[in-house]
Amino acid sequence: MRPFFLSTPIYYVNAKPHLGHAYTTILADCVARFHRLRGDNVFFLTGVDEHGDKIVQAAEKAGQTPKEYCDAISTLFQDLLPTLGVSNDHFVRTTDEQHKAIVQKALQKVYDKGDIYFGEYGGHYCFGCERFYTEKELTEDGLCPDHLVKPEYIAEKNYFFRMSKYQNGLLEHIRNNPDFIRPERYRNEVISLLESGALDDLCISRPKSRLTWGVELPFDENFVTYVWFDALMNYISVLEWPEGQAFSDYWPGAQHLVAKDILKPHAVFWPTMLMAMDVPLYNHLNVHGYWLVRDTKMSKSIGNVIEPADMVERYGLAGFRYFLMREMTFGQDSSFSEEALIMRFNADLANDLGNLFNRSLAMTKKYFDGVVPQAGPLQDVDNELIALCRQSIENCQRLCLRFQFAKGLEALWELVRGLNKYIDVTAPWALAKAQDMERLGTVMYTLLEGMRKVAVHLWPIMPEKSLTMLSLLGITFDPIKADIESEIESFGGLAVGTAIQPGGNLFPRIDVKKDEEPAAKQKKAEKKTKKAASTPQVDTEGVVEFEDFAKLDFRVGTVVSAEPVKKADKLLLVRIDIGESEPRQVVAGIAEYWKPEALVGKQVTMVANLKPRKLRGEISHGMILAVKKEDDLMLLQPTGEVPNGSRVS
Ligand code: MSP
Repeated sequence: MRPFFLSTPIYYVNAKPHLGHAYTTILADCVARFHRLRGDNVFFLTGVDEHGDKIVQAAEKAGQTPKEYCDAISTLFQDLLPTLGVSNDHFVRTTDEQHKAIVQKALQKVYDKGDIYFGEYGGHYCFGCERFYTEKELTEDGLCPDHLVKPEYIAEKNYFFRMSKYQNGLLEHIRNNPDFIRPERYRNEVISLLESGALDDLCISRPKSRLTWGVELPFDENFVTYVWFDALMNYISVLEWPEGQAFSDYWPGAQHLVAKDILKPHAVFWPTMLMAMDVPLYNHLNVHGYWLVRDTKMSKSIGNVIEPADMVERYGLAGFRYFLMREMTFGQDSSFSEEALIMRFNADLANDLGNLFNRSLAMTKKYFDGVVPQAGPLQDVDNELIALCRQSIENCQRLCLRFQFAKGLEALWELVRGLNKYIDVTAPWALAKAQDMERLGTVMYTLLEGMRKVAVHLWPIMPEKSLTMLSLLGITFDPIKADIESEIESFGGLAVGTAIQPGGNLFPRIDVKKDEEPAAKQKKAEKKTKKAASTPQVDTEGVVEFEDFAKLDFRVGTVVSAEPVKKADKLLLVRIDIGESEPRQVVAGIAEYWKPEALVGKQVTMVANLKPRKLRGEISHGMILAVKKEDDLMLLQPTGEVPNGSRVS
């Protein structure tokens, strides 16, 4: 089995977890799950960073000892993991005895090798960053570039790691391994830093006179270890470096995931430390951008921190995880907003995916008594769908395994949309009407097998929903046996004769009005009252209340068939696909203006919730919207194609 080790950063426990931490951990979880689906031997690690000045200060503020404080916040981080659906194999704390012992072992090794020396140092120390800055690194006003506060000048004796000694070796390694740091923009950033030759030795100790909350240096009891040298070591301390079986099993497949804020410690400090310890370097450092809120970095002081548990409660775990993965282009910053989340949820999950499942399962129930039918000979349209399936699954796997979920999910949605289109084009209801059961069996089998593949590939992103989708398809799914690499070429994993279970609505649409914040609602109500008081009286005759208007359900759909109604010159019998299991039948008074064949394939807007009535013996369930212009009748259409069933709002 191929080893795959993946770590998130270990998060500082100086504040509660927020959306940023949740994102990195969920992204790592999705990648780890993809590797499990390939049958890889996965070790997925996350945890917390508990030593250093920052933590001592936060504990003091909370009126607790550092240990009490760390225990409390670490529990918050740990307890959040199941809420976010995270399947980590281990949770590390830098206060763990095993970790501390291995940090000391590593320090001793590097010290014995002569790569740690004692020296005097004077520098500008930023407590927020827990590091010294050189003059060159500060802003023009002499501030820390990250925290924009004036660092304190501290001169003291300390221990130093000969990092500069490894500068050229690291540069060579990065040049020879184009994928070592990815995406490329961060690789280039590190190359420029190393090429500038500005790499100093790294101060790796703090005198106990200033800080005691850390791992004591094994060769000088008057000092504790600098927090970064301590923290980075977690990646191998959990594997019981150097002799541990886990270390030999997993380290050869090591990858790290971080955001751009901690690029330098991971791309420079860590690999040079590994070189000094004679440990092979990790395979890849994967770097993502920031989540911004209204174009600003999240911060407690600005008060724009998003709480991940609130989002899960409000939108469900599947919707939240899907949005995070779909929205952020790997390596770039992204803006988080609930409006964007709702739009994505409704378009991709409620409309595209939810409708696909609802209508296909309902048709299988109706036409084959809920049993997966046998496929007969394939036609061009089926072969095209199967080719699309291969392409989409191949792209989805390749991109997601490289952390590129926005593109990977877009590739998977090409298949979801392709399957919806396949229904429109093959028109199973027409085959059923014509009693062409062999062809109908081929279409339904192809459809259900495509849906199975979509559900399997959604397991890393929305594990529970994926299991529900698969159980609706009559499948008990075991991720460990999934072997997704073979899913690219094969088509036919769904066993003929399987009993499917048509079930409720997988992704009910999120009604924005229902989900308005109580506070926002109240503000709105107050505003309305004020406005009403200052608005001049208007004539209300013929005016409807908004609530009455909101009762109408306008939908966009595609005309799949149209034919004249017998003995009624003005009427056409039109069937419209609005994303339901069967097209809607509408009797429309448009025969004078529209030839039936000209209507087929057109998108139209209709009122979908009119009570059905009979016209000339035919059921009419809905009304097509049109505008009369002289002798013409124009149909109301959106300005671009939209998924069938899209609601007009
Ligand atoms: N303790 C160090 C890491 C040591 S790793 C050996 C640390 N901790 S942290 O709590 O500040 O976490 C930083 C990480 O949290 C980022 O690299 C990223 O993974 C995540 N994020 C924090 N804020 C974020 C955003 N606004 N957006 C995206 N990710 C963010 O640094």
